[in-house]
Amino acid sequence: MNKKEIIEKTELFVKQTLSKDSTGHDWWHIHRVRNLAKRIARHEGADIFIVELAALLHDIGDYKFFQGDEEAGVAKVGEWLSSLEISPLLIDKIVEITSQISFMHTLPAKGERSNKKNFPIPTLSKELMAVTDADRLDAMGAIGIARAFTYGGFFNRPIYDPAIKPSKSITREEYKTTEVPSINHFYEKLLKLKNMMYTKLGRKMAKRRHRFLNLYLKQFFKEWKGKI
Ligand code: ADP
Ligand code: NI
Repeated sequence: MNKKEIIEKTELFVKQTLSKDSTGHDWWHIHRVRNLAKRIARHEGADIFIVELAALLHDIGDYKFFQGDEEAGVAKVGEWLSSLEISPLLIDKIVEITSQISFMHTLPAKGERSNKKNFPIPTLSKELMAVTDADRLDAMGAIGIARAFTYGGFFNRPIYDPAIKPSKSITREEYKTTEVPSINHFYEKLLKLKNMMYTKLGRKMAKRRHRFLNLYLKQFFKEWKGKI
């Protein structure tokens, strides 16, 4: 099997797997992340084949599909890659990217103090940086806003409730189980992403998307108060 066939087969596998779920990990998210990640990878001189495969598979192992079981998700990615004719070394690299990418992993676990030691992870490869930045960019800007309200709506969350303040230091467990209004998610995650970018291009793009998030929030609260 050549690289093109491996990518095509994986694309089909991902489309089929994600079509069964609607928690916000739709195919078009994967499509955008894949293209963004490849663009960043070219800038960074990262391995495009690894980046493309990892971008395609990055949400397959999401804990949300496995009732919170993170290990089962990682195993699923490994199983798929093992069914293809690629080297174990490459499999390890891709599995590592897909298991490290989640924003949730940068949050402290319950009882653990929030500290800068959790971030950045010291052994980052260029490939991991490209895919992670791409995934984070897709949670920002106009698209990020659409995704946040889609996610909130799916879980019957209100758009906003002035009585429920955003949490300043959310833990991994809280992130998984939170039931707060979607606007809070902007403060608990989306606005933090700009300073979490790994690559130069990622940072540049994140700046513009961040600006748009702020613009949106400004308008949102003016409308909420009936000022405009
Ligand atoms: P990650 O895989 O980086 O941990 P998620 O799977 O948690 O990201 O998020 C998928 C999408 O849903 C993202 O666009 C994210 O911003 C959005 N999302 C996640 N949690 C919430 C929430 N509590 N409220 C609104 N949107 C959310
Ligand atoms: Ni994703």
